[in-house]
Amino acid sequence: MKRLVKEREIFHYLLKDLLRHEEVLKMKEYIQHGDLSTYDHAVNVAWTSFRFSRRLGLKVDERSLLRGALLHDFYLYDWHVPDESRKRFHGFYHPKTALRNARAHFSVNKIEEDIILKHMWPLTPMLPRYRESYVVLLADKYCSVKDTLGFENRERHTE
Ligand SMILES: [Fe+2]
Ligand SMILES: [Fe+2]
Repeated sequence: MKRLVKEREIFHYLLKDLLRHEEVLKMKEYIQHGDLSTYDHAVNVAWTSFRFSRRLGLKVDERSLLRGALLHDFYLYDWHVPDESRKRFHGFYHPKTALRNARAHFSVNKIEEDIILKHMWPLTPMLPRYRESYVVLLADKYCSVKDTLGFENRERHTE
């Protein structure tokens, strides 16, 4: 329990500038899966990535891991609504849109860039380059399945 409290503190410390950033908060306006906003999904993926890597004792750059995870779906549109300006399948192109938005508002390092761009692998062909990218890729798939099936016990980490 003490460890969990400590981990929550570290999580909030490392993401404190992003979690309340005006642009990042815009992800609350869009639904990701079921009734879960893209913002909540992104926070869940960041938290799951953080805990996966800690439980497995992986040596990762935690700040980059968390920032990349939080911004991995920073595409800011409703992917359920058809839009002529988005010709291609959402699954293929949203990582590029997310990276473009991330770069427009934040400085993004190589690890964060790789996390965002490759998180849909194997749907996108390029293999992830960093350990952090694989952690987020797995956490994203895990959270997406859990959210789509509507499992309870969603945790909120934004307060
Ligand atoms: Fe995504
Ligand atoms: Fe995602």
